[in-house]
Amino acid sequence: MNNMFQDNINQLSLLAAAIILALTVWVAGKYIKQMKTDRSTGELADENWDGIGEYKNELPAGWAYTFLGTMIWAIWYWTTGYPVNAYSQIGEYNEEVAAHTKQFESKWANADKETLQAMGEGVYLVQCAPCHGIAGDGMGGKAADLSVWGSKAGVLDTIKNGSKGLGFPMGDMPAGLLSGDAAEKVAEYVANGMKGDQPAEFATCAGCHGADGKGMNGMAPDISTYGTPEFVKMVLEHGKKGFIGTMVSFKGRLTPIQEKAVGTYILSLSHND
Ligand code: HEC
Ligand code: HEC
Repeated sequence: MNNMFQDNINQLSLLAAAIILALTVWVAGKYIKQMKTDRSTGELADENWDGIGEYKNELPAGWAYTFLGTMIWAIWYWTTGYPVNAYSQIGEYNEEVAAHTKQFESKWANADKETLQAMGEGVYLVQCAPCHGIAGDGMGGKAADLSVWGSKAGVLDTIKNGSKGLGFPMGDMPAGLLSGDAAEKVAEYVANGMKGDQPAEFATCAGCHGADGKGMNGMAPDISTYGTPEFVKMVLEHGKKGFIGTMVSFKGRLTPIQEKAVGTYILSLSHND
């Protein structure tokens, strides 16, 4: 309560309220007094309504100009303004945002890795850190541990525990499809972008992800891009209702460059480069 009066904005508001109150009382008082004593004078019009007459008064100039002004404004409003021209402030705002986004996208279209990482860190700290933690460790299991995800250890984790919630037509990936050496070999292969000789054990995965890992036309994720910003972009646009919890979709909330940047940044957490 005391603090309220220490705030200078509040003090000014209270002062203004007191002045307005005093003025109101004074003006009202003045007119009430005038109504008691004033006698009207002037020439009466011929018309008379049940004994109530009307003085012949000039049209007040201020009122007439205001009336004309509103008519002109109405014509301007209907023709140049919203209804005919389909103008709206929200529309103008959206156009400006789209123009800025385009400028932003072309400015950073060829940004190098360091620039993307720095930009990504900014996006990450604002958009992702509240759930994933400043260090990306998932804050004791509240969200995915990004110091592991996207690397070989991340694939091993997926093979061991399965995965769900990205919303692919294939549904969930079952846990424990491979283990031991077989899992290691496949994880190594997937984490390296599926380059080099394909281990025979990958046949277990090919049934859903396809022999090329590309996910059979959108039935399952394209794991040939696992560990790249492209895969992160897919996750961001899908959102995920997983075993740990729900991650909202960032579709339309980040620009393509921002998605690439934040992807580059979080992958640097698990790739140490
Ligand atoms: C029964 C079909 C099926 C099989 C078999 C399968 N997957 Fe998957 N996989 C999926 C689906 C569906 C998803 C997406 C799951 C989700 O919504 O999170 C997925 C997701 C993944 C992901 C992404 C995980 C993430 O963090 O987003 C990786 C990596 C992966 N699979 C690797 C493999 C590997 C390696 C194998 C072979 C050992 C394999 N999958 C076998 C269906 C399968
Ligand atoms: C509201 C909390 C929340 C926010 C904000 C959030 N995440 Fe997540 N994220 C999660 C949770 C929870 C999971 C684990 C989902 C699961 O598998 O159970 C997750 C999983 C992930 C994964 C692993 C996905 C996979 O396929 O296994 C990635 C990558 C990721 N988040 C990146 C991000 C990035 C980048 C941002 C910021 C742009 C972000 N997240 C913002 C909660 C969040």
